[in-house]
Amino acid sequence: MALQATTLEETYQEMADKLEGIVPDIELRYKAELVYEINKIKKERGAIILGHNYMEPALYHSVPDVVGDSLALSRKAAETDCDPIVFCGVRFMAETAKILNPDKTVLLPAKEAGCSLAASITAEDVRNLKQQFPGVPVITYINTYADVKAECDICCTSGNAAKVAESFDSDTIIFLPDEYLAANIADETDKKVIFPTLETIGNPKPGLDYQMIGWHGRCEVHEQFTVQDIENVRAQFPDVFVLAHPECSPEVVAASDYSGSTSRMIDVVRESENSRFLLMTECSMGDNITAENPDKKMVGLCSIRCPHMNQITLEDTLNALQNNERIIEVPEDIRIRAKRSLDRMLEIR
Ligand code: 13P
Ligand code: SF4
Repeated sequence: MALQATTLEETYQEMADKLEGIVPDIELRYKAELVYEINKIKKERGAIILGHNYMEPALYHSVPDVVGDSLALSRKAAETDCDPIVFCGVRFMAETAKILNPDKTVLLPAKEAGCSLAASITAEDVRNLKQQFPGVPVITYINTYADVKAECDICCTSGNAAKVAESFDSDTIIFLPDEYLAANIADETDKKVIFPTLETIGNPKPGLDYQMIGWHGRCEVHEQFTVQDIENVRAQFPDVFVLAHPECSPEVVAASDYSGSTSRMIDVVRESENSRFLLMTECSMGDNITAENPDKKMVGLCSIRCPHMNQITLEDTLNALQNNERIIEVPEDIRIRAKRSLDRMLEIR
């Protein structure tokens, strides 16, 4: 969260108090200068910075006004009066903020910052599925681009996917594009999931009760975690509490003690009586939790960073604010339809 400091020295001190032992001092001194400049210009411009839980520790703990998971950040984007909105996250998140705020400037401090899930499906893929399964409600994970959201009935995030799925009075739903999230939500909501293949696309079999129709998208970070990873850590640390993001495989989720969105994982660690944790998610988050909960130990299994989230730096955040760079735009016809899917999701509490 944004610092209270008003001078460079105070900025460094506040960062050092929180991040000592997590970020080397020489790096902190350099980053404190960037943070000081960012917070100054943010105030001058009346901007808000939204930061996803995967931001690197020095950024996460110093410049965002709000940090959170996709759901919390979407809600904040929907209600903020500030302009511009700087999104320290990935492109689909910044696009979501733009869809909800057409008259504001939304800045993404990175050239690309994509997402393997968002890249796994196109609007045409969704149109083909709708043709194959007419009348079946389509839920799309928020990790998709605006044109895909525009083809769907409602969005969901890892924080509300089961609730959204259960909000439909329909035996069959289409749930896109994360095959692991679909399988995990199917388990949770007592459905079974199938995947349309090249043979079944365009060759519908009416009357079949598929219950949940998925897509073969995967998160390139979470698909790397294995049950063996968990077993190895449990063998060495029998007291460890394991948390897995629902983008992990159903086997990994089943072998864990808890599964939920990034913010829910943070809350569970904060509130837990356990002292040792293994996080099956992007590894910056472990450092961010440690900075806030020095008494909790994270097992350092982590060498997996999201190459897209990782593109967001303090340097580019400053550049975004100074030069109004990278402005996110969404064509108006797509924006209006995508907003319907987001609004429906935000109505579900
Ligand atoms: P959350 O909504 O749980 O923060 O997840 C977003 C994401 O991209 C996880 O990889
Ligand atoms: Fe996308 Fe996975 Fe990165 Fe999240 S961690 S932004 S789902 S690639």
